Amino acid sequence: MASLAKELSAAAGAAFEAVGLEARFGEVRRSDKPELADFQCNGAMAAAKAAGRVPREIAVEIAGALKSHPLVLSAEVAGPGFINIRVSDAALSARAEAVRGDAMAGAEKAADAAVTVIDFGGANVAKPMHVGHLRSAVIGDTLQRMLRFLGDTVISDVHLGDWGLQMGHLVTELEDEQPGLIYFDAGYPGPYPKEAPVSIEDLGRLYPQASNKAKADEARNERSQRAVAEMQAGRAGYRALLRHFIDVSVEALKIDYGFLNVSFDLWKGESDVDRLIPGLVERFKAAGLAEQSDGAWIVHVARQSDKKEMPPVMLVNSRGGTGYHTTDLATIEDRMSTLKPMPERMLYVVDQRQALHFEQVYRAAGLLGLIEESRLEHIGFGTVNGADGKPFKTREGGVLRLADVLAMALEEADKKLAAANLPADMGADERADVAKKVAVAALRFSDLMNTRTTNYLFDLERFTSFEGKTGPYLMYAAVRVKSVLRKAAEARHAPGMAAVTQDTERALVLQLDGFGAALLGAREKRMPHILCEHLYSLAQAFSAFYAALPIAAEPDAAKRASRLALADAVRHQLETGLDLLGISVPARM
Ligand code: ARG
Repeated sequence: MASLAKELSAAAGAAFEAVGLEARFGEVRRSDKPELADFQCNGAMAAAKAAGRVPREIAVEIAGALKSHPLVLSAEVAGPGFINIRVSDAALSARAEAVRGDAMAGAEKAADAAVTVIDFGGANVAKPMHVGHLRSAVIGDTLQRMLRFLGDTVISDVHLGDWGLQMGHLVTELEDEQPGLIYFDAGYPGPYPKEAPVSIEDLGRLYPQASNKAKADEARNERSQRAVAEMQAGRAGYRALLRHFIDVSVEALKIDYGFLNVSFDLWKGESDVDRLIPGLVERFKAAGLAEQSDGAWIVHVARQSDKKEMPPVMLVNSRGGTGYHTTDLATIEDRMSTLKPMPERMLYVVDQRQALHFEQVYRAAGLLGLIEESRLEHIGFGTVNGADGKPFKTREGGVLRLADVLAMALEEADKKLAAANLPADMGADERADVAKKVAVAALRFSDLMNTRTTNYLFDLERFTSFEGKTGPYLMYAAVRVKSVLRKAAEARHAPGMAAVTQDTERALVLQLDGFGAALLGAREKRMPHILCEHLYSLAQAFSAFYAALPIAAEPDAAKRASRLALADAVRHQLETGLDLLGISVPARM
């Protein structure tokens, strides 16, 4: 069964068509005046304008047709031509039953499902992950979950930053510390040891060490740059070290991402497409798209219609090296030629401040015909700010590491649980598991609930609160519904047929009805906050219902069974929706 809103839209659309007007005017949505109506259709105004008719006349015709629809209790015209619709209790009851029994909790698959690559995470090998990477991970993973749920074939790729100057820093700094390692012997024919000569702690130390030296000493910096060039040119010992650095980093990254319930299908990086770069550069040249400029090869991507400056793509720099533009282009080529099924879209979940970079890359990709430019989308996001309104830093002023953020969130969650009324028989393991879930819910939801493109204030105290619009509040709401159902089950009271009669029950089912539209809207705009809003309103509608009516304590068996069915439908949709946000609900707390 489709949502009530969709059924009514179809009916109103047919009514518009029957009087010679376009079906699209029949769009029906939830009324913003619940005391007057459940749903409303405002299309008569626009239709009248298009047809040169009086809106109210059209509205009366459409309302007349809607009145005979089986779902509709009443359809009245108000004001200049608004149509206010009430649906019957029976329609709401059937809808609640359908949501409860549906694998998608009342949502429907997207009609335009596509094979979609989501490029997110973007951690850099050796460099610590920071809070900006947190946003990419959380938003990207939520999009991946939502799109899959709605029928898209998603291939996610972490796209590691593993091909820049940092690799040169690591090689040279390691050489200074352990010059005897076989990797530095240019004449050694291989093979190289399987065991990495460094740990993640070593990498965390070597990189800042070298980068600080390089900042103060240009010759030291040059040495790292030469090492990168040699690595890119294929020096075997350096390549073997690169492999070790990546493997050691990935192992550590999997722990941080895992904590956040974030996963990737592909753990590829910039270095994986290195082999494609010479051919790619040749094709740009052969197509007449690359131009020589001061010893570099560039691709002009500016257009007459550009409002702001659009610098050319740097294909090969004057030193003969390649950078971020070129690896991103080669990555597109790699994905189009190796992934099965072939991608139809690529979403890049990366900081808004990289917008220009992606615009340049997308245009160049389109020019060469790697993929149509319109199929590449930059899903930008704002920064995470501290109380001073600037990107969040540690107290010492450095960029915060993701691992520190996770530890802080866990500590704050633990504090909140200490103040909460947890079940007396909850042991240490269960409590630690709940604390972890609270921390993840706090971090993920507070990131996702904001319009993606805005900045937000990092405030763990608020994020972990069980009150207000927070992840822990929603998680607790779901736990509460589950506990109502569990206690009823213990008393041998099972959910039965839903029979909606009361206002708070009607409001609850109307809210349940909007799940699919919220998800499709969130998918279309790539805006997870739309789903967050829906789930928050659902939790509130359940609270109002629970405060107004007895559920398990209702003496009338049929009413009790109905309310348990409603509660069960809420549980199902809430858990399904929270799972799409990467938030898991403990059995109790
Ligand atoms: N490693 C980059 C950074 O830390 C992000 C990579 C984003 N993805 C991409 N295809 N460029 O800023």
